[in-house]
Amino acid sequence: GLVNTREMFKKAINGGYAIPAFNFNNMEQMQAIIQAAVETKSPVILQVSKGARQYANATLLRYMAQGAVEYAKELGCANPQIVLHLDHGDSFETCKSCIDSGFSSVMIDGSHLPYDENVALTKKVVEYAHQFDVTVEGELGVLAGVEDDVVAEHHTYTRPEEVVDFVTKTGCDSLAISIGTSHGAYKFKPEQCHVDPATGRLVPPPLAFDVLDGVMKELPGFPIVLHGSSSVPQEEVDTINKYGGKLEAAIGIPEDELRKAAKSAVCKINIDSDSRLAMTAAVRKVFAEKPAEFDPRKYLGPARDNMKKLYEHKIVNVLGSDNKL
Ligand code: G3H
Ligand code: 13P
Ligand code: ZN
Repeated sequence: GLVNTREMFKKAINGGYAIPAFNFNNMEQMQAIIQAAVETKSPVILQVSKGARQYANATLLRYMAQGAVEYAKELGCANPQIVLHLDHGDSFETCKSCIDSGFSSVMIDGSHLPYDENVALTKKVVEYAHQFDVTVEGELGVLAGVEDDVVAEHHTYTRPEEVVDFVTKTGCDSLAISIGTSHGAYKFKPEQCHVDPATGRLVPPPLAFDVLDGVMKELPGFPIVLHGSSSVPQEEVDTINKYGGKLEAAIGIPEDELRKAAKSAVCKINIDSDSRLAMTAAVRKVFAEKPAEFDPRKYLGPARDNMKKLYEHKIVNVLGSDNKL
């Protein structure tokens, strides 16, 4: 069946790689994630946001994820390591509902709350979750942009001096931190970036690795999570724009920075936007090139293939979680 994150994270930290946490909202995304994980022999975290639960229905998503374990076996994987994780749980009730319905891991995102309230809420979720061997991700620090329906103008980096107290008081199993990543396809303003003379492309400012180092010094070997880690592949953005889309100045996290993070105690890297871009690019291309096509399988199939390619690239070339089963 589904597994929690405990052993997976321990192995990832010791092995210097990170587990991919891919969001899914529909069958094609889920299939692409599992196909990629099976072919690369990678553990994987399937994550479901509040929005995904609203869009697709929590029960259907849960059965899909449980079915994913059997699907992985059918595809030839003898011992799939698949986590079903709630992404950005916003309340005890949401977390409880996921735990009660078979999720193996949840995030309680109290990062926007005053510190003591974040501690109290996270602790409450941990106490409930651990009764069922469900692992819990907490968060300290605020990502710029939209996170869990809360909009922040600026990053508030995680304060390394708070992390020991937070982890000790809450008992959480992993900690999401803020070091300059953010959600969505527009992570930096062009004016924050410089132009790479070799490629002519915009290069964003580096992540705050000093903050990550500070956290790791305080919590040696503790599992750290990076949200907002899409790289916004330029070729997908170009394809979207070529076929009628309008994504201007979409900028993500350079993959080199994610490679560096994956070698550290960062053992879970969250990617959603890149999959959305891969899906949209493929669908737009079919619509533009074959306007007579109206069978959804003829455009969702290529979308699935393109997402699978993206997931495999992330696993093999960025996170390094291949051949770990
Ligand atoms: O944290 C954000 C994830 O990309 C999920 O996004 O809330 O639109 O499903 P969503
Ligand atoms: P991206 O928007 O960068 O893909 O981040 C996804 C995420 O953090 C989900 O929790
Ligand atoms: Zn997130």
